[in-house]
Amino acid sequence: AQRDKIESLLAEMTLEEKIGQMNQESPSIVGGFEVPFGELIEMVTDGRLSNAEFKKIMSTAQQDCHEDEIRTGGVGSLMVQDPAKTNELQKIAVEESRLGIPLLFGLDVIHGYRTVYPIALAEACTFDPALMKKTARMAARESHSGGVAWHFAPMVDIARDARWGRVSEGPGEDPCLASAFARAKIEGLQEPEQADDPYVAACLKHYVGYGACEGGRDYNTVNMAMSLFYSVYLQPFQAAVRSGAQTAMAAFNDLNGVPCTVNKFLLRDVLKDTLGLPGFVVSDANAIKECVSHGIAADDRDAGVQAACAGLDMDMGTNIYKNHLKEAVESGQVPMEVIDDAVRRILSVKMWLGLFDNPYLTEEEMHRFDTLPQEHLALAREAGEKSIVLLKNEGNVLPLSPEKKIALVGSLADDREEVVGAWALSWRKEDCVSIRAGMEKAFPNLQYFPCGGPEGDMNADEIQRAGAYGDVVVAVLGETKAMSGEASSRADVTLPGKQRELLEKLLGFGKPVVLVLMNGRPLALEWEDRHVPAIVEAWHLGVQMGHAVANVLSGKAMPEGKLSASFPAMTGQCPVYYNHPSTGRPASKSKFTSKYLDAPLDSLYPFGHGLSYTSFALSDLQVNDAGEALDIRVKVENTGDRAGVETVQFYMQDVAASIVRPVKELKGFVKVRLAPGEKTKAAFSLPKQDMGFFDDQWKYRLENGVFRIFAGSSSRECISEEVAVCFS
Ligand code: NOJ
Repeated sequence: AQRDKIESLLAEMTLEEKIGQMNQESPSIVGGFEVPFGELIEMVTDGRLSNAEFKKIMSTAQQDCHEDEIRTGGVGSLMVQDPAKTNELQKIAVEESRLGIPLLFGLDVIHGYRTVYPIALAEACTFDPALMKKTARMAARESHSGGVAWHFAPMVDIARDARWGRVSEGPGEDPCLASAFARAKIEGLQEPEQADDPYVAACLKHYVGYGACEGGRDYNTVNMAMSLFYSVYLQPFQAAVRSGAQTAMAAFNDLNGVPCTVNKFLLRDVLKDTLGLPGFVVSDANAIKECVSHGIAADDRDAGVQAACAGLDMDMGTNIYKNHLKEAVESGQVPMEVIDDAVRRILSVKMWLGLFDNPYLTEEEMHRFDTLPQEHLALAREAGEKSIVLLKNEGNVLPLSPEKKIALVGSLADDREEVVGAWALSWRKEDCVSIRAGMEKAFPNLQYFPCGGPEGDMNADEIQRAGAYGDVVVAVLGETKAMSGEASSRADVTLPGKQRELLEKLLGFGKPVVLVLMNGRPLALEWEDRHVPAIVEAWHLGVQMGHAVANVLSGKAMPEGKLSASFPAMTGQCPVYYNHPSTGRPASKSKFTSKYLDAPLDSLYPFGHGLSYTSFALSDLQVNDAGEALDIRVKVENTGDRAGVETVQFYMQDVAASIVRPVKELKGFVKVRLAPGEKTKAAFSLPKQDMGFFDDQWKYRLENGVFRIFAGSSSRECISEEVAVCFS
C-alpha cells in the first residue's frame, strides 16, 4: 500500500515538486544587513566586527523559515528545533501545499538531545552495546518531542588519527567495536519498544572514509587501498545498513580522487545497490557547491548534475538542486529516473516515519519532557561512569576516601557548560553538573582553586594555595569542547596551553596528584605518564559528568572503561592504532626496524586499555574447532580485593594471507563481573565466516591456514594460542 501511495504521488508531482522534495533548507537569518550573513560571521571571526557590534546587528535580525517555499512544495526537509515551530511549518506543508506532503525535520542529535550523554568516543569505551542502544532510545524519545524526526547520527567514521577533531564524534579506531556501536545506535534510534514509543530515522555519516583525512586535517583528501576501505572503513556502515539504517550523509572528502558527494560508485553501486540502503542520501552541508572548490565540477550547475546522477538525493543547504536541476532534466543531462528514484526514497522515509498519518506533535508529546525524568539523568550518570577509563594508578592513589582533604584544581572543573562536549545543541544549563559540583557533594573536605585551564595564563597565587591545602591534588585538565569536533584538528595533541607547567608546579609540592582529563580525542601524555601517579580519562561525559567523575574517584562506582582509540606517546606517532598491517620490520630495539628515533616504539596506552581498582588475571586460553565456529574460552580471575568488571577482549591474527593483514584484529568481547577472588570462564564463539577479509575487488576471502587467537585485557596485554583453520 505504501508503494502504491508513493507511485500515485509521484505520478501527480510536477518536476518542480519533485525537486522540492530533494531540497533541504535551514532557517536563515535575515535582516537589513549590508553583507550576507555568512560574511558577517567571518567578520566576527577575523575581528573586523566586534562582538558588541555583531550583537547590535543581530538584534534586528529575523529567522526566515521558508514558509512561502514550503507552501509551493519547494522544501522536502528542514532543520529546526522548536516543536511549536515545527507544527506550524508542518501545517503549511500538509494543509497549504498542493499535494500535502509532510516535511522531514532533521537535526544533529549526536550524543543526546536535552539529556546529553558521553561523547561517542567515550561511550564506545563502555564496550556495552546494550547501554549504547539505551542512550540512543532516550535521545530519540526526547528529540521526537522536540519535533525532530531525523537524527544526523550515528557518526560511525573509523578514526585513527588523534589530530582529527572529529575523532570525538565517533566510536574510535576499530571496525568490530564501531560496528557494534553502529548496530546499537540504529536499534536504539529506529526501533520503538512498544506501540506508542516514538522512533526517528537515523542518518549514517559520514559516508565514507572521512576519518582517514590526510594528516588528520579536517576536510582533507582521503586516499586508501580498496581492500582497506572494504575491510575497515566501510564495515560499520555495512553493519548499520544491515540493521535497517534508513538514510546516510555523503562525506565532505574525496575518496581516491572523487568527492563522495559526486561519487556514483560509492553512493549508487556500493551503498544503494549492493548494501541496500532503503532510504536516501543527503549531502553534507554546502557540499554540492564545494565540488567546485574540489575542482571536480566547473560550476554550481555541473556540481548539481554530477551529484544527482551519482545518487545524492537531497541537497543540504546550497539550493543548487532547486536552482539548476529542472533545466538539467529538461535538457536531458539528468535522467528523470534519477529524480524519481531520489523522490521515491525520500517519500519512503517519510512514510516509514508515519508522517503522512501523523504529521503533527500533540500537545502532550511536546511537553512530555518539560520535566526531565530521573531515569534519563540516571542513565546519563551510568553511561558517564562506565565511559571513564583509568589509565594509570600507581601506588593505588585511587580511589580517594570521602574524608580526604582534596585540592581540586583547573578551570574546566568548575565549568558546567564544558561537560557536554562538541556538537551538543539542545541541552540546558540547569541539567549540567560540573566536576566541582559533583565532587563537593562526594568529598566534604574539598576546596577548589581554579589556577588556570586550557586557555590563558596560570594564577601563581592560587597554585600556591592549592599546593598548601590538603592531602591530595586533583587536577582537571584537558580541552575545551571547542577543541574537538568539526573544524577542530590539532597539530599538537598534548595538553593545550600552559597546563603541563601547571601540573609540574603541582607535582612540586610532593603530594599525590590525580590527573583527571576532560577532552575529545586521544592526547599525547608521555610526560604526564612519567610524572603523574594517577591518570583518569573522563572525556566529555555529558550533563551528569560531575557525579560520574566523583563516583569513580571515590570508588562508589568502579572504573571499567577500555580505550576505544590508542593514545600516542607523542603527536609525531599519529596515526597510531593497534590494528595496523604487519610490516617486514616490526619495531624493536634493533636499528633497522619500523619506528622513530625520537619516540617510543608503540602507543602509550593501547586500544582496549583500562584499569580497575581491582586486578584481573587471564589464563588457560583454549581454542577448539567446533565446525562452523571456533570455540574460545579463557579463565578470568579477580586477583584483587574488590568486586569489579573486566572486559575480556578476543583478537585474532591471520598469520599468512594473500594480502598483508593487521597484527591483531578485535573479533569480540565479553564483560565479566567478579567478586574478589572469584574465577570464571569467559567464552566467545568466533564464526569462521567472520575470519576473512576483503580484497580490492570487494571479494571476501577466507583462506585456510594458521590463525593466532588472543584473549586480553587490552590489545597489548594478551595471551595467545595458534590454531590451523580450514574453511570448507
Ligand atoms: C556538517 C557536519 O559535517 C555534519 O556532521 C552535520 O550533520 C551537518 N554539518 C549538519 O549540521
